[in-house]
Amino acid sequence: MSTKDNMNKFVVIEKIGKDLSRETIDFMVNKRIQEYGENTKDFDNNEQESLFFFLMEGSDIKAFGMLKPVIIYYKEVGYPIMGMGNVMAMEKGKGYGTTLMNHVKNYLTKTKQVCIGNTHKDNFAFYTKCGYTFIPGFVNRFVYYMKAKTPTVKSGMKRSRLAEGETVRNKYPDRKVGDIYIDTQGKETRGDWHDYAMFVYDKENRLKELINGNGDIVTKVPLW
Ligand SMILES: CC(C)(COP(=O)(O)OP(=O)(O)OC[C@H]1O[C@@H](n2cnc3c(N)ncnc32)[C@H](O)[C@@H]1OP(=O)(O)O)[C@@H](O)C(=O)NCCC(=O)NCCS
Repeated sequence: MSTKDNMNKFVVIEKIGKDLSRETIDFMVNKRIQEYGENTKDFDNNEQESLFFFLMEGSDIKAFGMLKPVIIYYKEVGYPIMGMGNVMAMEKGKGYGTTLMNHVKNYLTKTKQVCIGNTHKDNFAFYTKCGYTFIPGFVNRFVYYMKAKTPTVKSGMKRSRLAEGETVRNKYPDRKVGDIYIDTQGKETRGDWHDYAMFVYDKENRLKELINGNGDIVTKVPLW
């Protein structure tokens, strides 16, 4: 019997980010570095409320994935969604990814939630086969609003994109009111998503208005 025919020996464990062990976090970080050459996720600090899924064979993790609770905004209405990310199979082509994604779909159906993921074109076939729906052009509508925590830049602040003495307000005079502005340098607004597309699992069409519309969709956390 092939592995794919024998998936009932696997179980999926669900775990909230704040309950992950050091060993599990290190495992995912190392796998990400092996896969991508780097790890861009901060599981210790940014994913405390995210829900992690682990496909287990005994004590071995065969695949993992994550749903991050996020609110996205369209026409000033907030939509709670689960952002899907950090999906990986430890060995490819053995059905691990599919088994995990089917479990995630069941979870979303059961809890009446929707998910949105963003992925490279290499994975379009995979997610489509798993029953997720790609929305052409969707990712290009996402803009990232961030808080302008630092009104002026002090010397030595490497991370800021503002020049010495410059303020968010005078650099972006047309930006939104209050403390919020669009991160024009952020990947969400750079428009280099042509090899990527967003997919959804939205059984009850809760995101219909947002998907069929054409205005900006605002996220206050970078794409997950
Ligand atoms: C994407 C990924 C999770 C798929 O998991 P997997 O366990 O290899 O996938 P499965 O074995 O369940 O494959 C399911 C089907 O999708 C197909 N498929 C999987 N990856 C594919 C790819 N990159 N291109 C085309 N088809 C693919 C398989 O051929 C299989 O089709 P079949 O049922 O007709 O044989 C895995 O390839 C992976 O870990 N990739 C690297 C990390 C990554 O890119 N994750 C996605 C982040 S958004």
